[in-house]
Amino acid sequence: MTVKLKKCNREDLKILQKISIETFNDTFKDQNSPENMKAYLEKAFNLIQLEKELSNISSVFFFVYVRNEVAGYLKVNINDAQSEEMGDETLEIERIYIKNQFQKHGLGKYMLNHAMEIARERNKKKIWLGVWEKNENAIAFYKKMGFVQTAAHAFYMGDEKQTDFIMMKTLL
Ligand SMILES: CC(C)(COP(=O)(O)OP(=O)(O)OC[C@H]1O[C@@H](n2cnc3c(N)ncnc32)[C@H](O)[C@@H]1OP(=O)(O)O)[C@@H](O)C(=O)NCCC(=O)NCCS
Repeated sequence: MTVKLKKCNREDLKILQKISIETFNDTFKDQNSPENMKAYLEKAFNLIQLEKELSNISSVFFFVYVRNEVAGYLKVNINDAQSEEMGDETLEIERIYIKNQFQKHGLGKYMLNHAMEIARERNKKKIWLGVWEKNENAIAFYKKMGFVQTAAHAFYMGDEKQTDFIMMKTLL
């Protein structure tokens, strides 16, 4: 399998929107109401919002390609771009999404390793993320990758208040 990563820029905006909506839908639509899904998708993945995130110097998006197809994406945040106030010694993985047909082939691990490389280059001590308490698949993946639950925070899916586990890994 030929795999490569590419940092996203503004020309990638439309593709980023498409894969963000597709993977979010595939992951969460069975456990959430259509109204809440629609509200979240419109708020999180409209072009203005994504363009703003792409131009934030403390956030970076990457596409992972298998052969020449975009198979997934990663978004990492540092400093003020992190969705919780964690300080400047941590890096957040805000999004790590692999399209259904490419899951369980090592791509999630590949992207996570890339996030850890960025964290080390920037002298971060820890890497963290928020994951929905009902997303058992992702939680099992993160545990396998050495993350432990340290806290929880609220996450709004439309008007529904949900609980995200905060999971953390110390970089050696
Ligand atoms: C969660 C996700 C990123 C994992 O990526 P992936 O490419 O499917 O996982 P990988 O193939 O890289 O797996 C890496 C390791 O984790 C293990 N793993 C992956 N999913 C697992 C699961 N559900 N249960 C137990 N182990 C799991 C693999 O067996 C593998 O172990 P190994 O290193 O011993 O071979 C991917 O499944 C995904 O995009 N899911 C939908 C979106 C989502 O939930 N994103 C996270 C939002 S917080």
